[in-house]
Amino acid sequence: MNALTALKQSPSDLSRPFTGFAVTPSPQSPRLLELTFTLEVTRQFLQEVAQWPVQALEYKSFLRFRVAQILDDLCGNQLRPLLFKTLLSRSEGALLVAAPGLDNVAQADEMVKLSTAVAHLVGRSNFDAMSGQYYARFVVKNVDNSDSYLRQPHRVMELHNDGTYVEEPTDYVLMMKIDEQNMQGGNSLLLHLDDWEHLDRFFSHPLARRPMRWAAPPSKNVSKDIWHPVFDVDVQGRPVMRYIDQFVQPKDLEEGTWLSALSDALETSKQILSVPVPVGQFLLINNLFWLHGRDRFTPHPDLRRELMRQRGYFCDPATP
Ligand SMILES: [Fe+2]
Repeated sequence: MNALTALKQSPSDLSRPFTGFAVTPSPQSPRLLELTFTLEVTRQFLQEVAQWPVQALEYKSFLRFRVAQILDDLCGNQLRPLLFKTLLSRSEGALLVAAPGLDNVAQADEMVKLSTAVAHLVGRSNFDAMSGQYYARFVVKNVDNSDSYLRQPHRVMELHNDGTYVEEPTDYVLMMKIDEQNMQGGNSLLLHLDDWEHLDRFFSHPLARRPMRWAAPPSKNVSKDIWHPVFDVDVQGRPVMRYIDQFVQPKDLEEGTWLSALSDALETSKQILSVPVPVGQFLLINNLFWLHGRDRFTPHPDLRRELMRQRGYFCDPATP
């Protein structure tokens, strides 16, 4: 399913209790929900999937769906509908997921298993060319020699969508915190398109729908350029976005100055949410109408942060 055709559902009903997890609006915004598994479900899930090392999930794609089904069964099959409802609802589309007791880097494999299960209840995570797997783990340290801002700690990573330089649809982004040492700052930054003060101005501009060239730096292991516009629409005509400042290649002054103004208008938005993501927790967002970024950190010689990401497409059972 292409999520451009699927952004149609109403907000989640949080008034009833769920089996195996609880959901509440986050302090930052009612659009971002906090989903917390019970200790019992977390324990039972990890016990039931202990027979498969992460490598088994890497080698056999179908096992990712099997662990997903195990988690949903433990939650009385209420988890999957809630995830779909939230992620496809235009007024929400974002979750911060926590599991008690899963909060130490020594449990990194368990973290990969839990996040894999959640992601594969709503879709399938794409091959990540940077890691050669369906997920990527990467470390941020005090010093960085990489060729993009992904690992550079002392500056803001600007708001963007993922999957802008690949052909396959990137409906969702999952970002998990695996480790954090000597960290100050570095919150995740999120902006819902409908909250952005300047959306109408940029969406209605003639350049909004002009295909532009997108090219990634060498570390991404993607050598082919692709072409698409910054904005598109879903089936109801609402704006969706596919944008990242570092990889768009404007062809002339007109495109370059428009993109530069767009970048400024995003970064100065008053509607940006600043969300701390504790170790063992992850954000799962609809990539079409949420932008994400990362705030700067305070330098520290022993700073270490490890993250995991998955990006993929939704498979909504209601849509053939
Ligand atoms: Fe990203």
